[in-house]
Amino acid sequence: EDTPIVILNFKTYLESTGERAVELASACQKVADETGVNIAVAPQHMDLSRVAGAVEIPVMAQHIDPIRAGGHTGSVLAECALEAGARGTLINHSERRMLLADVEAVISRVRELDMVSVVCTNNVQTTAAAAALEPDFVAVEPPELIGSGIPVSKAEPEVVTGSVDAVKKINPDVKVLCGAGISTGDDMKAARDLGAEGVLLASGIILADDPERALLDLVSKI
Ligand code: G3P
Repeated sequence: EDTPIVILNFKTYLESTGERAVELASACQKVADETGVNIAVAPQHMDLSRVAGAVEIPVMAQHIDPIRAGGHTGSVLAECALEAGARGTLINHSERRMLLADVEAVISRVRELDMVSVVCTNNVQTTAAAAALEPDFVAVEPPELIGSGIPVSKAEPEVVTGSVDAVKKINPDVKVLCGAGISTGDDMKAARDLGAEGVLLASGIILADDPERALLDLVSKI
């Protein structure tokens, strides 16, 4: 129940692209096995299938489009993500924002397919709105802190506690993650102390000299 959750978003860093996506996911697998922490990875779509074939930890899509099967050239179909090995998807990441109606449509599609939905939000108000749509997770990330190395848990703790409180009132089944600037064990512990179930993060691990060591440090204090 209370096992902390880490989702590593591979974004489009070269350090987490192609064969390096497989290596990074394997490092995540190793740390998950050693520590018992739930670590999921979200590689780029083109890498999803090969990553899912190489590891047993959950693999997630970075985005799914609000479409049904048919004529939608260039789109990401939920069924295709599922068959490629995705167990869930990020939705509405700050770098891939969607209309509210489309967020709802993707949450429903993903639920129909028994996949996990993680809706990203940028503040307490949008977290509250997202919780009303009944995703599995909401991940709150103040955009100005994304990629900054300044952890949300230190710079804007009230965004995390405010999100946790808002979600409790609206739909206590929804789990809250936080992200932006998270990289160390202290950041992760602070996020958990503020009431988050875990973290969504990227650059602090992906751009580290030794990502496996950085991951081990991330989960060392919980
Ligand atoms: O999806 C996670 C992300 O937006 C946070 O990025 O690099 O600040 O950990 P980063």
